[in-house]
Amino acid sequence: MTKVLIDCDPGIDDALALALVAGSPSLELVGLTTVSGNVDLELTTANALALREFLELGEVPVTPGSAGALLRGTARTGHVHGASGLGDAVLPAPERGPSPGYAVDFIVEALRAAPGEITLVAVGPLTNLALAVRKEPRVVEWARELVIMGGTYTRGNRDPAAEFNMLADPEAAAIVFDAGWTVRMLGLDVTLTAVVTSDVLDRMRPLGRLADRLLVPAVRSYGEVTAAGGPAVHDACAVAYVLDPSLFTCVPAVVKVETAGLYTRGMTVTDFDLRDRRANALVATALDVRGFWRLVLGAYEGLAAR
Ligand code: BDR
Ligand code: CA
Repeated sequence: MTKVLIDCDPGIDDALALALVAGSPSLELVGLTTVSGNVDLELTTANALALREFLELGEVPVTPGSAGALLRGTARTGHVHGASGLGDAVLPAPERGPSPGYAVDFIVEALRAAPGEITLVAVGPLTNLALAVRKEPRVVEWARELVIMGGTYTRGNRDPAAEFNMLADPEAAAIVFDAGWTVRMLGLDVTLTAVVTSDVLDRMRPLGRLADRLLVPAVRSYGEVTAAGGPAVHDACAVAYVLDPSLFTCVPAVVKVETAGLYTRGMTVTDFDLRDRRANALVATALDVRGFWRLVLGAYEGLAAR
């Protein structure tokens, strides 16, 4: 079993990532923490609560975190995830509420209690993680690994230079990349290849309630359509990496997050030429897309059959 703690801002692709967790018996989800990002914190938390029950994630705590970026207003994804954050998916209202407490404390205490055991998976802006690093720098040693969906060394999505999760809180991202761990960066360079093509959508359609209530309406309303003709499920890549790292090619690099640029704020400036420097990131450069969908659709099929 691999223990994972997921920091998220659901978000359509966050929801698809959580469905992958739910369909993967080899993962033990120790907590869900929420952050303002795709939509505001109240909605990302409400969506996480609804997903916990719909996906039957059990008693895993859902703990709300930061309501905004460290220094400036949080960017939003606008139309991409719809007003609710889950597009046209309408899940049953959850019966249970969030845990008392604050995501930053939850992250610190979870890692303190199980040093070396928990993989942190961050699929939203990095505000909670930056605050956790500032509050308790030893989280860097205690985390088994930090895997993020975020950044890019090729092209942006929310603007030409930056990926949304970085642009939403560049100062937080800079703190996280400079904290001393080796960040596993799964950026747009690979996640834009994880596209729900019409063939993939056809494989999802027969999956009963999972398809009818979540997968199909969410995917069909996802506002970021790639050149390949469907949306990219960015955040599911981070969970897929934990399940099967061999799907990804990763290259050591020094990554610095631009916080001051007039046109480049949030850019992850990625230098693969290490010279005499320590790499602070392992940056994904390729994804086995067929293997990815085999893994994801297999997990969804297992979940739907339960
Ligand atoms: C990232 O931004 C959000 O819109 C998605 O949920 C994903 O985490 C992709 O740039
Ligand atoms: Ca997200």
